[in-house]
Amino acid sequence: MITTDLFGASQAPRRDEPLGDGAVVLRGFALAEESALLQAVSAIVAQAPFRHLVTPGGLRMSVAMTNAGPRGWVSDRRGYRYDPIDPDSGQPWPPLPPACMRLAVAAAARAGFPGFVPDACLLNRYEPGTRLSLHQDRDERDLGLPIVSVSLGIPAVFLFGGLRRTDPVQRVPLTHGDVVVWGGAARLRFHGVLPLKPNHHAALGECRINLSFRRAG
Ligand code: SIN
Ligand code: FE2
Repeated sequence: MITTDLFGASQAPRRDEPLGDGAVVLRGFALAEESALLQAVSAIVAQAPFRHLVTPGGLRMSVAMTNAGPRGWVSDRRGYRYDPIDPDSGQPWPPLPPACMRLAVAAAARAGFPGFVPDACLLNRYEPGTRLSLHQDRDERDLGLPIVSVSLGIPAVFLFGGLRRTDPVQRVPLTHGDVVVWGGAARLRFHGVLPLKPNHHAALGECRINLSFRRAG
């Protein structure tokens, strides 16, 4: 029957889990570009290795970070900012591979943010015990544009709170290939990651890598 072919694609089960106005989990959305993403991570890290940044208050962050794209997020004693130059190498951050760009653009569009084009990708590396405390992402110029956050490697529990630090927090388990998008009314919601439990992933070993695509400038 023709109708099966006609409607097959559009009737595929959508595994989108809304987290409120402007925020959604797209389960497994990144698996379509899994090998491109893993290759991109190795290429980026070869040029700009993960490092532990220092907060403006002088604390060493437990998450190791690096960046790709025209702008990179950095923190030091002077504050948080985006910088086109990797302070460790004095060189521009590695480029954002086209497959990663396409994935971020497609995830944003599916989440209701068509036309989103990132110019920054922050890579976070978590090992068992690593956590990321509740924070807002607010160093970008346009705070309506979304964050597209791609999880790779071992599972983690993502904390998704409200607009005030003390608001109730949703616990969202994330696994390899899941994508979370938040923008618009959700853009300034507090979020973080619980300490990771020991685990092993076939491609990444004992580690989780999160890529968050942003429009910084
Ligand atoms: C972030 O808030 O920058 C990353 C969140 C995550 O690792 O899932
Ligand atoms: Fe964040």
